[in-house]
Amino acid sequence: MKCILSLILLESSVFLPAPQNITIESRNFVNVLRWSPVKGVNGTVSYHVEQRVVSSEHWEEVNCTNISKPECNFDHGMEVSRNLLRVRAEQGGLKSNWSQVGPFQAKTDTILGPPWEINVTSEANTLTLSFRSPLEHTKYDSDLVYIIHQWDESLSGNISSETKNTAKKFKNLKEATQYCFQVQAMFENIKGEISGPHCNKTTTTERTRNIYIAAIFGVLMFTILATFLCLCVIRKYKSTIKYFWQPRLRIPSHYEEDLQNAQVVAEYTFWNCAEEHWDIVSVISNTSQNQTLRDSFASGNQVDVSNLNEHR
Ligand SMILES: *[C@@H]1O[C@H](CO)[C@@H](O)[C@H](O)[C@H]1NC(C)=O
Ligand SMILES: *[C@@H]1O[C@H](CO)[C@@H](O)[C@H](O)[C@H]1NC(C)=O
Ligand SMILES: *[C@@H]1O[C@H](CO)[C@@H](O)[C@H](O)[C@H]1NC(C)=O
Ligand SMILES: *[C@@H]1O[C@H](CO)[C@@H](O)[C@H](O)[C@H]1NC(C)=O
Ligand SMILES: *[C@@H]1O[C@H](CO)[C@@H](O)[C@H](O)[C@H]1NC(C)=O
Ligand SMILES: *[C@@H]1O[C@H](CO)[C@@H](O)[C@H](O)[C@H]1NC(C)=O
Ligand SMILES: *[C@@H]1O[C@H](CO)[C@@H](O)[C@H](O)[C@H]1NC(C)=O
Ligand SMILES: *[C@@H]1O[C@H](CO)[C@@H](O)[C@H](O)[C@H]1NC(C)=O
Repeated sequence: MKCILSLILLESSVFLPAPQNITIESRNFVNVLRWSPVKGVNGTVSYHVEQRVVSSEHWEEVNCTNISKPECNFDHGMEVSRNLLRVRAEQGGLKSNWSQVGPFQAKTDTILGPPWEINVTSEANTLTLSFRSPLEHTKYDSDLVYIIHQWDESLSGNISSETKNTAKKFKNLKEATQYCFQVQAMFENIKGEISGPHCNKTTTTERTRNIYIAAIFGVLMFTILATFLCLCVIRKYKSTIKYFWQPRLRIPSHYEEDLQNAQVVAEYTFWNCAEEHWDIVSVISNTSQNQTLRDSFASGNQVDVSNLNEHR
């Protein structure tokens, strides 16, 4: 009778399949064991997770928070030891076989994510890079070293530097130049994922700005001075300049025709001209003996009329 009972129990335990597709996902020392959910006979199935150090024979319980979900969060200070993990499904008195995974060692198997919330602020020719640790608020945070990759817009080479701080100042950079940075965390020589590029542009320093302003002011002053000097020269040598710049006088053809007739060169025309202000008054006279063209410079309205009469 006892034998039959135990046989029934054995058969029923066989009924519940062991969890399948068991995996460990570890990122930034957050370790999660996952498996495919097991279909129970009736109602919900719960799971039981255990672990042991590879070198030990003793399995220990892993206290998972919600064990009716097919996943178990096991952040249990096991970064240095190599552990095996196993899980089984349970329903009432029914227990599945164990499914095992491992060995797993957090220190080497965890994926270190990139630093996040990366800011690059610019002030004159200094850029400040700041970011947050992927292991923020964990005991491993202080062990991280950051590798910073840096290049400028000329793409001439990639400079790498290391720091233990989550902020770094880059001083004396080229002015008005775009710089880009990528950051990567490193935990005990194991490099993490690299961040995307974050860029910002340096601006000109006060000193350069002052030099520019001084240069512009200098050019402006020089221009003003040169213009003033030019005006002085023009004023002083006004007549000479005018003489050279004045286009050669040509008598309009209809006037020339009139000039053939001495009678037509009327005083009227001349007086008419004299009423206005002229820089140059040309007195053209056509004598019977020979044709002469005389340019006379007159200042203002004062025209030597007697001269004109004489030629008539
Ligand atoms: C295990 O995973 C594979 C692929 O992801 C899937 O096809 C299969 O159904 C899974 N097994 C179980 C028992 O869920
Ligand atoms: C399955 O569940 C139903 C109701 O939830 C219950 O009446 C039945 O006894 C259960 N069967 C087993 C085998 O647990
Ligand atoms: C498991 O965790 C729960 C709540 O977090 C706690 O009440 C319980 O005592 C823990 N069990 C073990 C064996 O650590
Ligand atoms: C526990 O798991 C069940 C089933 O997956 C879910 O409905 C419930 O919200 C979970 N509880 C917590 C605290 O995660
Ligand atoms: C459970 O484990 C035993 C012994 O390793 C094996 O004989 C049996 O087939 C397993 N059952 C299932 C459902 O995998
Ligand atoms: C560049 O730096 C300036 C000044 O610090 C800041 O206001 C701006 O948001 C930064 N730009 C980017 C893309 O980070
Ligand atoms: C980045 O800039 C944002 C917005 O200014 C700020 O909230 C955040 O604290 C900054 N992050 C770091 C690491 O300085
Ligand atoms: C180096 O510079 C190039 C651009 O020239 C960039 O794409 C790359 O991500 C940089 N970083 C590393 C680590 O090579």
